[in-house]
Amino acid sequence: MGYDRSMAAYAPLVIEHFENPRNAGEMADPDGEASTANPVCGDRMRVMLRVAGGRVQQVRWQTRGCPPAIATSSFASEMVLGWTIEQVESLTRETIAEAIGGLPSDKVHCSVLAATALRSAVADYRAKASSRDQIDGPGR
Ligand code: FES
Repeated sequence: MGYDRSMAAYAPLVIEHFENPRNAGEMADPDGEASTANPVCGDRMRVMLRVAGGRVQQVRWQTRGCPPAIATSSFASEMVLGWTIEQVESLTRETIAEAIGGLPSDKVHCSVLAATALRSAVADYRAKASSRDQIDGPGR
């Protein structure tokens, strides 16, 4: 994955996370996971979550995309650590783009991957948790 433009166009945190991505990789037997594609460009992200006590304990991700997609994947994976699943459900691409220091106007769409994948992984977590409850029965 090469630089697609002068990195000078990006905020320092974008460059930092692109060059030193955090939490990249896979997770065995995640509590929730999701894959998503950016409708604008086709870039893809897969995210895996470990959840305990209703909070995100661990995030792993794999992204095939442009520098801001990699950077926002890494940044968001750190940002949501310790968040409740309800907080993740209300995560927006604007929140990520703003918190990372802004993105060039033609790259704002790149932060949609991380926001959508994280919300979808929480939806998967809820679906798995509810099917576990049905199998185990209430009160177990
Ligand atoms: Fe596809 Fe950035 S150009 S996510």
